[in-house]
Amino acid sequence: MAIIFIIILVSFLCADSNCTSFIDISSKVNSMVNFFDHELTMEKGYNPDVDLNTLEMIKKAGYRAEAHLVATKDGYLLTMHRIRGSEKSLPIFLQHGLLGSSADWVISGKEKGLAYMLADRGYDVWMGNVRGNTYSKAHKSLSPSDSRFWNFSWHEIGINDLPAMITYVTQYTKSNLTYIGHSMGTTVFYVMVSQHPRILEKCSIQAMFSLAPIAFMNHLKSPIRIVAPFARDIQLIIHYLGEDEFLPQNSFLKLLARYGCDLETWEEKICANVLYAICGFDQAQFNSTLLPVILSHTPAGASTKTLVHYAQEIISGKFRPFDYGKQKNTDLYNSTEPPDYDLSKLTIPVALFYADNDWLASPIDVARLYEQLPNKMAKYRVPFPTFNHLDFIWGLDAPKLVYEQLFVLLQKYTK
Ligand SMILES: *[C@@H]1O[C@H](CO)[C@@H](O)[C@H](O)[C@H]1NC(C)=O
Ligand SMILES: *[C@@H]1O[C@H](CO)[C@@H](O)[C@H](O)[C@H]1NC(C)=O
Ligand SMILES: *[C@@H]1O[C@H](CO)[C@@H](O)[C@H](O)[C@H]1NC(C)=O
Ligand SMILES: *[C@@H]1O[C@H](CO)[C@@H](O)[C@H](O)[C@H]1NC(C)=O
Repeated sequence: MAIIFIIILVSFLCADSNCTSFIDISSKVNSMVNFFDHELTMEKGYNPDVDLNTLEMIKKAGYRAEAHLVATKDGYLLTMHRIRGSEKSLPIFLQHGLLGSSADWVISGKEKGLAYMLADRGYDVWMGNVRGNTYSKAHKSLSPSDSRFWNFSWHEIGINDLPAMITYVTQYTKSNLTYIGHSMGTTVFYVMVSQHPRILEKCSIQAMFSLAPIAFMNHLKSPIRIVAPFARDIQLIIHYLGEDEFLPQNSFLKLLARYGCDLETWEEKICANVLYAICGFDQAQFNSTLLPVILSHTPAGASTKTLVHYAQEIISGKFRPFDYGKQKNTDLYNSTEPPDYDLSKLTIPVALFYADNDWLASPIDVARLYEQLPNKMAKYRVPFPTFNHLDFIWGLDAPKLVYEQLFVLLQKYTK
C-alpha cells in the first residue's frame, strides 16, 4: 500500500516537468517569494501584528485584553483570551477551527475582526484555544514531546476542552452564554452536547451559531479527500503527516497543491500553507495585506489524529467517534462500529451559516446536518459565489455578507 502511494505521489510531482528540475523550480520560486516579501514590506510597511500574540494584538487595538488559564480533567492547560466587556455585557464564546487559534478572530483588525465587532456591540467576548495549539500546548504532567500528549482528536476536544472552558466562563461571569464556532469549532460543540447534553442547562447556553459547520463530510471538495482513503496506513501517516503533532511534509503539501492550488492565481506562499492547501482560497475576498499576519499565526497546531478522524468521516459519511478498528471499538463502544453522535440532544436554537464554494462544509452536508437538528433557528447561505471556508473569518466582506445577519439573530436569541 505505502509503496503504491509513494509511486503515485512521485508521479504526480513529476508529471509535467522532469523530476530533477523540480528542485530548480522551487528555488526559483523561493527567490521570487523573497523578492515579493521585500516589495510587500517596502510598499505597505511592516505590520507589527506579525510578531504579536492574540493578547498583544487586542491591546494594541485599544481594547481591554485578558488571558485566563483553565485545566481540563485530563490535565491539559488551555489559555482563553477575552475582550472584556462591561458588568452588564453578555458573554459570547468564540471557538476557532482546525489549525487555528484565538488569533483568527482578531487578525482582520478593528473594523472587521468578529471579536472586535462583538465587543463594539457591547458583548463580553471570550475566545477559546484547544489543546495542541499555540496557546494551549501545555499539560500538567505530559510534555508536548511525549506521544501521549498528542493522543487526541476533536472528540476529546469536544468532551474535555469545551466543557472546561465554557464552565469556567459561566462560573466567572455568572451569566448566560452564547456560542459561535467556526469550522472545527462547530464540530466540537456538536460532540460536546451529544455526549454531555446537560451542559446546555448547567451553563445556560442560549444559542449556537455555526460558521462553516462541519459534522458530515462526504461531499467535501477539498483535495484532502484524495488522501482520506490512506488514513488507516500508519506508516504512511507517520511519514507524510507527522507521528503526533500534525507536521505535514512538503511533499504532502505539494500533492494537495497539485489538486487544489492554482498557481496562476494563488501565490506560492498560500499554496505552501497547509491551512490554505486544505481549506482553499478565494482571491475575491482576500485582503493581501493580511497575508504576513495570517501566515505568522497559522497553522497554530493540531494532532495528526484530529486529521485522521476527519478523514474517517470523509470515507464513512457518518458523524461519529474515532474508529479504532473492530476489536478496540468493541471494547470502547460495545459495538464493532463507533455509534453515531446523537444530534437530537442539541435542543437549543442552532443557526448554520454556509457558502456554496466552501471546500470543507459542502451545502449538501450542511443541509443533512440541518435536517437532523431538533431546534432549527436559521440556515443562511452566504450570497457570494466564491465565498470559501476561511472567508468566514478573514473575508473582505465577511462583515457585510455574514456578520450583519449574525448580529440580527444574536440580538434576538441572546439574553
Ligand atoms: C486589509 O487589512 C489591512 C490590515 O488590517 C487593513 O488596514 C485594510 O483596511 C484592509 N483592507 C480592506 C479593503 O478591508
Ligand atoms: C489513546 O487514546 C485512546 C482513547 O482514549 C486509548 O484507548 C489508547 O490506549 C491511547 N493510546 C495511547 C498510545 O496512549
Ligand atoms: C438567562 O436566560 C434566561 C432565559 O433563557 C433569562 O430568563 C435570564 O434572565 C437570563 N439571565 C441573565 C443573567 O441574563
Ligand atoms: C452491549 O451491546 C449488547 C448488544 O447490543 C447489549 O445487549 C448489551 O447490554 C451492551 N452492553 C453494555 C455494557 O452496554
